[in-house]
Amino acid sequence: GVDHLRHTLNVEKNAFSRGLPEWGVHLAEDLERLAQLHDGHNIAAVIVEPVPGSAGIIPPPKGYLERLREICDQYGILLIFDEVINAFGRVGASFGAERLGVMPDMINLAKGLTNGVIPMGAVLVRDGIYEAFMDGPTQMIELFHGYTYSGHPVAAAAGCAALDVYKEEGSFEQARSLEGHFEEALHSLGDHPLVTDVRNFGLMGGVDLASREGAFGMRGLETHKRLFWEEDLVVRNSADLLQFSPFLNARPEDISKTFEKVRKVLDSID
Ligand SMILES: Cc1ncc(COP(=O)(O)O)c(C=O)c1O
Repeated sequence: GVDHLRHTLNVEKNAFSRGLPEWGVHLAEDLERLAQLHDGHNIAAVIVEPVPGSAGIIPPPKGYLERLREICDQYGILLIFDEVINAFGRVGASFGAERLGVMPDMINLAKGLTNGVIPMGAVLVRDGIYEAFMDGPTQMIELFHGYTYSGHPVAAAAGCAALDVYKEEGSFEQARSLEGHFEEALHSLGDHPLVTDVRNFGLMGGVDLASREGAFGMRGLETHKRLFWEEDLVVRNSADLLQFSPFLNARPEDISKTFEKVRKVLDSID
């Protein structure tokens, strides 16, 4: 079976936080409660996205991931980080785990692994997990899972090339150096009358718009469309949340211009 931990977004407590919010570490105790309910030793794994992206750009409360790690250690639960979005520079380091200083037992990866252009996924595991698969007969494949496109050579080449470019261009350091400017530019929208929350971590930023009465998501969609058609800008919206993830090698002036355009559009919609 699967149980869910509550998400950690709380706009009443944490609105307009910059980076990791102060409030919410106690939400990790959801895991302790589940451990009490099921006996923690029966729980195989906990899967979390260190900084949830598509779910709403939700930087984890300070201490939250550390507390999950502690509880997992206490009961022998594997901690799995879904880093499909976070890894490869998005949070100013190779991995969210690295940036946030919490070591999971497994990390799953995709997107930035090939610069997002060729489909490829990967799973990183701790030594102990790896070794568990390595004690079978030597003539057998250790972890047999033969998919049609496993180890696809084009994807593998794209992966190797992306890693080379990240290293040669210092993309993760570049992303990290843009964070301050990105944070300022993003939070400059905080005084707009339609904006109810702004939150950010690394080069991930979320701007909540107040929903129109009886038309949830319409204001976000209109903003997205106007930015696209009138301002040549692609800004993802998820209902009334605008989600920003600029290029790792964006120029500061590109970022400034982005938010000028967003303000212009917000000023012109009702
Ligand atoms: C955090 C996260 N995990 C997993 C996925 C799904 O990845 P895939 O399509 O590679 O299975 C996504 C897709 O956007 C994602 O954002």
